[in-house]
Amino acid sequence: MAKIIDGKEISRIIREELKEKTEELKKNGIIPALAVIQVGDNPASTVYVNNKKKACAEIGIESLSFHLPEDISEEELLSKIRELNDDPKVKGILVQLPLPSHISEDLVIETISPEKDVDGFHPVSVGKLLIGQKGFVSCTPAGVIELLKRSGIGIAGKECVILGRSNIVGKPMAVLMLRENATVTVAHSKTADLKEVCKRADILIVAIGKPKFLTAEYVKEGATVIDVGINRDENGKLCGDVDFQDVIDHVSAITPVPGGVGPMTITMLMNNCIEAVSL
Ligand code: GUN
Repeated sequence: MAKIIDGKEISRIIREELKEKTEELKKNGIIPALAVIQVGDNPASTVYVNNKKKACAEIGIESLSFHLPEDISEEELLSKIRELNDDPKVKGILVQLPLPSHISEDLVIETISPEKDVDGFHPVSVGKLLIGQKGFVSCTPAGVIELLKRSGIGIAGKECVILGRSNIVGKPMAVLMLRENATVTVAHSKTADLKEVCKRADILIVAIGKPKFLTAEYVKEGATVIDVGINRDENGKLCGDVDFQDVIDHVSAITPVPGGVGPMTITMLMNNCIEAVSL
């Protein structure tokens, strides 16, 4: 029987721990505080931003919310970020992506002070991760590491294949698995013999944004499969990048969608907000 990795429960436990840490900090007069900027009214962004604010409230982190109009100029947005960079009460800054097309996401990310970059998207954060220095780590890959560790799945010495090479998930995921002493392969849409490459994996992490793409043919018997995808299937139901029903009898452990990696992302953001007070 495959172990179903319960991201909701692991996330709940971590949030309890973070709540205690926040109480300790507050006793010492230190108040974690996150500034969340949303530009425009993308409905998915509104849901994400509200969930982030709710998580802050649950843990005791202060959240400051800035909802800016869709047609705000790039310079106005950058000057808001600079103002928050200079505000000592603000410990973390998050600009919800995507941004309207007239605003450069790269420029926005680079304007956030690396000391407040709780998303871990700034080139300084990414560089520090690569060379093993302390800094903010992108939340979803950090969440995957927590899921594996807290489920008792060893990483050191394992063959790990990561399917997908995005800046937010695939690339930092590869670096984190390498840091945990896995042997890491990053596979992608141009990989030759993709099935054979995936079949090498003891731990297979899938982050390509294609509903139910990964079937049993890609999976070695007894592998651990981590599904980072969040998609809608043909009936509008949430599903991952992995065809769960097809692979379930072949794996030793797997994350479900929903309830696997998803709940961990905001939890790790909360973790970064607490770490931000000591930077
Ligand atoms: N949009 C979708 N996911 C994220 C995220 O993790 N951080 C930010 N800032 N925007 C997002």
